[in-house]
Amino acid sequence: MPQSDPAVPPRGSALRHALVSFGLAVFWAASAWTAGHVRTAPALHTAALLVHLVSLVAGFGAVLAVDYVGALWLFGRRTLCQVLDLAAPLHVPIWGGLAGLTLSGILLEPRLDSGLTRLKLVLVLLIALNGVQALALQRRLAHYGDRRPPRPLLLRGAASALLSQLGWWGALLIGFHNAQG
Ligand code: HEM
Repeated sequence: MPQSDPAVPPRGSALRHALVSFGLAVFWAASAWTAGHVRTAPALHTAALLVHLVSLVAGFGAVLAVDYVGALWLFGRRTLCQVLDLAAPLHVPIWGGLAGLTLSGILLEPRLDSGLTRLKLVLVLLIALNGVQALALQRRLAHYGDRRPPRPLLLRGAASALLSQLGWWGALLIGFHNAQG
């Protein structure tokens, strides 16, 4: 059976990405619209804040673990297989955390007239879309085993990790800033 070339994305994957990304963008737009129309009782608000913080620990904690081990790999301190083995089960807390942050964030009644809050929501969309392409990239990297992947894939991995960090830190700092006011 002929081996597929790992440098070339598998057939149909671009369409799958586009569909998943479109679905995420629709979910994001629906949650932003709902957030602008929801009124929450104080007890539910407090419970939502707890869920928001727990989701933050789960989602961002898992992202930090993957990016840290990814950085160790770039410096030659871990193999690619070790990074991918660690990352595989952490997709559940990452996506679960992001979903928990979005659903609880709706109940926290965000002030959508604030530019910073709108920027925070854009960062959340960026994190999700970047996550979809990072998943595809991981699948392609897995074909290389412990061989060094080509430079464009490495650069894409580094750019994706940087974007993810900027998005998470940005959303976290805006959330913290808004909570002070
Ligand atoms: C990556 C995603 C997110 C991160 C890292 C994040 C982070 C945070 C943090 C650190 C706080 C401060 C909690 C506190 O100290 O009281 C916060 C509060 C809040 N977040 Fe998020 N959040 C995220 C997503 C969302 C989303 C999607 C929404 C809305 C749909 C949202 C709405 C809110 C609201 C309304 C508050 C309360 C601010 C206030 O007290 O006025 N967050 N968030």
